[in-house]
Formats: sequence, structure tokens, C-alpha cells
Amino acid sequence: MNGVRTLGYLGIHSAQLDEWRRLGDLLGAEVVDRGAQRLDIRLDRREWRVRVEASDREDLAYAGWEVADDRDLDELVEKLGKLGHVFEEASEESARARQVERLVRGTDPDGNTVELFHSAAVSGSPFLSPHQVTFDTGLGAGHMVLWCGDVQAMLDFYRDALGLRVTDTIHLSQESIYFLRCNERHHSLALVGGRGEWALQHLMFEVDTVDAVGAAYERCLDSDLAQTTLGRHSNDGMFSFYAMAPGGYTIEYGHGGRHIDERTHQGASYVTTSWWGHRDLKASR
Ligand SMILES: [Fe+2]
Repeated sequence: MNGVRTLGYLGIHSAQLDEWRRLGDLLGAEVVDRGAQRLDIRLDRREWRVRVEASDREDLAYAGWEVADDRDLDELVEKLGKLGHVFEEASEESARARQVERLVRGTDPDGNTVELFHSAAVSGSPFLSPHQVTFDTGLGAGHMVLWCGDVQAMLDFYRDALGLRVTDTIHLSQESIYFLRCNERHHSLALVGGRGEWALQHLMFEVDTVDAVGAAYERCLDSDLAQTTLGRHSNDGMFSFYAMAPGGYTIEYGHGGRHIDERTHQGASYVTTSWWGHRDLKASR
């Protein structure tokens, strides 16, 4: 069976659509207004990659994991069912709203909404970045890091049920972070213990050059939205900085994340998240 191919899209709840519009623009994404209740953020030719929906919460609303086609989706849902995870076909109307051919919904052990889909809509209009940024989306929208109530149950679900693999681990004094991949991207998901009220620790978007990262960093500094300095991550080698997102979590913005070769990959454990940089400029939640 071919399981999950990419982390295809992300839904975000936010009370601060104006702030999201501003941040999306600073990061070089194309922000499309869909009335008072919704923003669609485009990173490529697809209709949307991040959907910000009006809410009184500031957190992940849903994550869309992408499979190739009907057959893979049917097989994955059957496997999930056998493992005791209830995933149900969404209505045609719901699939149409997400702009995908098919949509299946369930939850992970922490109660986060997990969506499985295939065949997202490709726009008739080209992607227009306000800063001529090209996002690397061939391996998905990016990655997300989730705080977990029960890390072991979450690992079991994403690894054994959804079919992701653990790439490596970072052990810090207070916590351990598990990095999981569903394709060559070093990780599309990372899990860390110690969940309080919120699930979302950060999101990451990757761009095609170091200069695109540097220029976005300057724009965020000038707008007082840089949360860290530039830096280089240890395990995935990402050159990046973090921007403040509305709600107090962060958006990592980087280039050069390591790709994994399944034939030669070896796991590893690290004791630091960054070789240099990523110094806090302001507090995040
Ligand atoms: Fe990250």
C-alpha cells in the first residue's frame, strides 16, 4: 500500500484575520480574501495551502494529509478502521468546500482533526507572490509541530496507523521531540510532550533560496514580527528564522531542509535544536 504522500494543507482557527493577511504578505504568500470569515493562503498553483477561518481560538483547526488516489484512500481508511480509528467519508459538500475530489475525516489520539484527501484543485490563475517568492511545495505545504497530551499514543497513531516514519529525535533537558516523515522531506510532523491549552507549536514553509529567507527576515524585523534570529537547525539542516503568528505561536521560514534517502537513512538523536542562531527576539507561547 502507498499511504500518506504529503502534508497537503492546513486549517487554522484565528480571531485575527487582518494580522494573518499582513503576515502572509510579508512571507511572500498570496492571500486571498474569502469574505469576513475566511482567508486562503496560496503558496503555489493550488487554490490554497493554508485556510484561516474566523474563530475565537488561535490554533490548528485541521491538517490535510494527502494520498494519491481513491484506491490508496480506501486502503488507508480500512487499515485505520482495523486499528480502531474511526475515519468517515465526508459529504460531497464538505469535499467541495475543501476543493478536493474526496475527503475523509477523523481525529488523532489528542483529538486534533485529521483529514485525508486526494486530488486538490489547481487554480486557473497563476500563483502571484507579492515578493516574487517561490515556495518548495513538491513535498507538501511544509511541516507542523504539535504539542501532545500523550506523546506515545500520538507516535503510535502517526507512525503505525497513518504510516509515517520517525526520522530522528532531539532530547532536550525538559522534553523530547520526535520528527516524522511521509516522503523525502526530513519531517512533515514533529511531536513534543507537554500540551497545555494549545496544540500548535509552529508551522514551517520552505522557499527556494537563502536570499528569499534573508529578505523575508528583514521584512519581519522591520514589522516587529521576527520571533528569532536566523539559524541552522541540527537534524534537518534547515536555514531559517521564526516569525510571530497571530495567537503567539510561530511560523518557521526556511531553505535547504535535508532530504531523506530511504535506502541509506540512519536514525539519530540530538541534544540541540540548532547548530547556531535561532536566538529568541521575543517570547512565543
Ligand atoms: Fe520546524
